[in-house]
Amino acid sequence: MFAVYAAEANPEQPLEALRVGERPDPELPRGWVAVSVRAASLNMHDLWTLRGVGIKADQFPMVLGCDGAGELADGTPVVVHGVVGDASVYGDETLDPRRTLLTEKYQGTFADTVVVPERNVLPKPEELSFSEAACMGTAWLTAYRMLFTKSGLRPGQTMLVQGASGGVSTALVALGRAAGMRVWVTGRSEEKRALAARLGAHETFESGERLPERVDAVFETVGKATWGHSMRSVRPGGTIVVSGSTSGPDPSADLQRLFFTQIRVVGSMMGTRDELADLLDFCRLSGIRPQIGTELPMTDAPSGFAQMLAGETAGKIVFTR
Ligand SMILES: NC(=O)c1ccc[n+]([C@@H]2O[C@H](COP(=O)([O-])OP(=O)(O)OC[C@H]3O[C@@H](n4cnc5c(N)ncnc54)[C@H](OP(=O)(O)O)[C@@H]3O)[C@@H](O)[C@H]2O)c1
Repeated sequence: MFAVYAAEANPEQPLEALRVGERPDPELPRGWVAVSVRAASLNMHDLWTLRGVGIKADQFPMVLGCDGAGELADGTPVVVHGVVGDASVYGDETLDPRRTLLTEKYQGTFADTVVVPERNVLPKPEELSFSEAACMGTAWLTAYRMLFTKSGLRPGQTMLVQGASGGVSTALVALGRAAGMRVWVTGRSEEKRALAARLGAHETFESGERLPERVDAVFETVGKATWGHSMRSVRPGGTIVVSGSTSGPDPSADLQRLFFTQIRVVGSMMGTRDELADLLDFCRLSGIRPQIGTELPMTDAPSGFAQMLAGETAGKIVFTR
């Protein structure tokens, strides 16, 4: 079958490990289903995989793509849930110590067909296109869990999103605005800040700019480049929710400020099947849709990867079949 895959790990030049070509058709284990992929979206996770982060060397070649939407053999339109874990034991599959995301152990969605356990597909709401639905399983699910499960924010409170144009950040802005939060965003360029404002941010700031007042919660996916600002921007007793560190981890965690102002730092990882179902309903009911900055045929995937690597995002990058 056609697939976009990582041939090997290349920590320094990740795009050199990227291949567009043929991979064997997948086998269908008992209790799993085959999804004929219609659209899938690019996540930073795919660049990490090309770099060899979060994947063992013997797992290559690996078809990339952590989320997607498509059709089952009988034509039923579905959204793929990318976390494979045991919810029956842990209640929350993200807490299963053996949980794995698509592309870590099992082949991903940038292909004609992806196979996943039966519980890892959910009905696609009619109101969402395949491309929109393809954004839900990773970036949007992560944003949903950060905001609604982890932050403890109530409508009317103020949230700061670090980064304006990324997949997770644009999802946080749209979800926060729709849920009645006051949404503040930092962005690295005028253009990116303008995008955040269009998506519903009440105010935007340059990266690192001093805010008019401290916020109730900060949403972090950037890491070292913004961590100090996040620590300075949260009110005493407030919360920083962290789901990524694109610019690397910050070795100086500013522990003194952390305990002195009693900041809560909360980690967040993808989301559960139930959260994905609620997210799909929230999009349907509120009318919000993912911001798709680039849509390309999957055969042109390398140019989408190059865009993300260069930081030239304007929302999600989606590949279609
Ligand atoms: N834990 C999880 O479950 C989970 C799930 C999804 C993603 N993640 C992580 O979250 C991060 C973002 O993923 P994504 O798919 O949303 O990536 P993306 O679409 O490429 O977005 C990258 C974001 O990071 C910001 N950024 C990058 N470098 C920066 C810097 N030096 N200074 C300030 N801002 C910077 C960008 O801000 P501008 O708009 O200002 O350029 C942009 O908003 C990745 O590290 C990813 O691994 C984690």
